[in-house]
Amino acid sequence: MTKVAIVYHSGYGHTAVLADKIAEGVRDAGQTPVLLKIDNAAQDFAPLIEQISDADAVVFGAPTYMGDVSGVFKVFADATAGAFFTGAWKDKLAAGFTNSHSFSGDKGHALESLTILAAQHGMNWVNLGLAPPNVTAAERGPDTINRVGSFIGLAAQSDNASPEITPPAGDRETARLFGVRIAQAAVRWTRGAQPALSQAA
Ligand SMILES: Cc1cc2nc3c(=O)[nH]c(=O)nc-3n(C[C@H](O)[C@H](O)[C@H](O)COP(=O)(O)O)c2cc1C
Repeated sequence: MTKVAIVYHSGYGHTAVLADKIAEGVRDAGQTPVLLKIDNAAQDFAPLIEQISDADAVVFGAPTYMGDVSGVFKVFADATAGAFFTGAWKDKLAAGFTNSHSFSGDKGHALESLTILAAQHGMNWVNLGLAPPNVTAAERGPDTINRVGSFIGLAAQSDNASPEITPPAGDRETARLFGVRIAQAAVRWTRGAQPALSQAA
């Protein structure tokens, strides 16, 4: 079974909702999600890093705080330098997601930070792959898939309310579909890494 690690920080629980929906999508695709929550900047990241090293694909997630990934996620990212030096994550698939209050809120910059983290590790980036809605602003609603129109990764928008009700249904379904996409990509990618049948025989 292909393993997809979902490593994320969520200060107030909204980004965590997306992580859970991505995991659901991975399961829907018949593969195994491994949810890895970054709790705080002082924790021992070694067990998380070990589980990421064991996964076939990794989805990085963080809320957008001050136009970038949260500081707690950045402390985790810096702690992955050991894996950078050994090349432990090289050639794995990677993808990313973020969530913030504003429609833009500079979420794109946070997603760029996640792509750079993946690139520094020599990972291969899987984008969102869901076209932005071709509807008028008036038609765009809480059920719309890829409501904020992101390309490089999943971007969701949450109001200042409980994570039980926000981000809305469309963002949650976008996250689930993203999980399906990453799991399917990981299956293809790991199959390609196996010896060709003629060689294995
Ligand atoms: C320190 C801090 C900085 C924030 N900066 C931004 C920002 O740059 N853009 C934005 O749209 N929202 C910003 N927000 C709002 C959060 O992105 C929003 O509340 C989000 O849902 C939090 O996700 P979480 O519940 O997973 O922590 C900020 C919130 C905090 C606490």
